[in-house]
Amino acid sequence: MTDWIDAGRAGSLAPGEHLLVEIEGDEVALFHIDGEYFAIRDVCSHDGTEIASGHLEGCEIICPRHGARFCLKTGKVLSPPAYEDIATYPVRIHEGRIEIGTEPSH
Ligand code: FES
Repeated sequence: MTDWIDAGRAGSLAPGEHLLVEIEGDEVALFHIDGEYFAIRDVCSHDGTEIASGHLEGCEIICPRHGARFCLKTGKVLSPPAYEDIATYPVRIHEGRIEIGTEPSH
């Protein structure tokens, strides 16, 4: 069963901003995009660098190191030099709090 980690008050994260949360030893990046929240493991699948500081274009993030693109909603890789998806985490709003599920997509 998924456990849920508190990531702060809903509304405390401005659109386009992100924060980092450690979940079971993994760095997870939570993004607020146009009123929705998405969480991905903060590791680029190309070369293992952090990706959360990358440039955002809509729901896409561009790795700051070599420019691979990923969909924040699905974790799908969208352009080389990366070829593997990034794990995503479920996010919910519960009693006014943002919560991230502890079970990643892979
Ligand atoms: S480390 Fe992200 S594209 Fe290379």
